[in-house]
Amino acid sequence: MSGVELKGVRKSYGALEVIRGVDLEIKPKEFVVFVGPSGCGKSTLLRIIAGLETISQGDVIIGDRVVNDVDPSKRGIAMVFQSYALYPHMTVRDNMGFALRFAGVPKSEIERQVREAARILELENLLDRRPKELSGGQRQRVAIGRAIVRHPEVFLFDEPLSNLDAELRVHMRIEIARLHKELQTTIIYVTHDQVEAMTLADKIVVLRDGVIEQVGTPLDLYDDPANQFVAGFIGSPKMNFLEGVVENGSLLLAHYDGQKIPLGPVSGKVPDGTRLVAGIRPEHFGPNGSARLAVTAEIVEHLGGETFVYAGNGGREILTVGMHDGRAFKPGDKFEAAFDPAKLMFFDSQGLRVS
Ligand SMILES: Nc1ncnc2c1ncn2[C@@H]1O[C@H](COP(=O)(O)OP(=O)(O)OP(=O)(O)O)[C@@H](O)[C@H]1O
Ligand SMILES: [Mg+2]
Repeated sequence: MSGVELKGVRKSYGALEVIRGVDLEIKPKEFVVFVGPSGCGKSTLLRIIAGLETISQGDVIIGDRVVNDVDPSKRGIAMVFQSYALYPHMTVRDNMGFALRFAGVPKSEIERQVREAARILELENLLDRRPKELSGGQRQRVAIGRAIVRHPEVFLFDEPLSNLDAELRVHMRIEIARLHKELQTTIIYVTHDQVEAMTLADKIVVLRDGVIEQVGTPLDLYDDPANQFVAGFIGSPKMNFLEGVVENGSLLLAHYDGQKIPLGPVSGKVPDGTRLVAGIRPEHFGPNGSARLAVTAEIVEHLGGETFVYAGNGGREILTVGMHDGRAFKPGDKFEAAFDPAKLMFFDSQGLRVS
């Protein structure tokens, strides 16, 4: 199996540079997930690797070949798109075998490949159906089957599950994890879904505005984000950010009536008067924390197993507080949101992590 390497890759559309210098190494068999806000360049980067877009600068390496000038069909990749238009008049069998037939592969060999892909994807009983006779998840599996029969060195997936309903997404997510185990190929996968990214990835690449903000394992990014952007992007619901000014080893919060929270391990290093942002994840609130913020519940979401309370202080900062035992909470309740100050992360005015 091949790895993929991007070296100083840049891409412009006219005067607009949308990929602004990307260096990335993806090892053979690795499952890498690209995340980032809409328009940050995820699909463009995938299309660059596929050879569907030319680059303005840099090198794309697949296996040990620089493929900048290699035709997409000769790169050893297969791409599965979000809109996976199947040929409506063809059966599942013919849809899956189409690329092989087009390439002049003998009929018996096509049949063998299609059967093997159908076995892996549990489509064996559906080979004679047409796409309109399939469920969304089955169609999506056919689209993946079309890619499998080509035996790519690298699979590229661009939000392949975003058209499916919640239950099917969960099911297909597990299928894709299984597929990766069985095929042992390199996979590069774009998603907006936090759970997909966290559960599928060996390595997550967080992109913003055409540059990489951070690369790491899912838990590395969650536990140790390099900056406020990554801290806010990884984790759902989002990390809370509280603005304030350092005063005598505490952060005097700008929007919480002069309430203070201890600075923990940063104190001493940060002079009085410094503006900092403190980050605390919703799930890190708990009854036993020594730091406390007096707030009022504004919106309460009961999810059954857990509750999220969106609390404020009359100001514009809303605090998301997660609770396991929050069933009794209702809007208007005043309470103290408690947390362990050791769980705080601090960011400077540039958004870089201070501690
Ligand atoms: N053919 C094009 N011509 C000009 N600009 C383009 C073209 N294709 C994409 N762009 C721009 O390049 C940037 C990156 O687009 P891209 O499709 O890679 O984003 P993305 O991260 O996949 O977003 P999304 O999450 O919405 O799919 C965007 O600002 C987009 O408007
Ligand atoms: Mg996209």
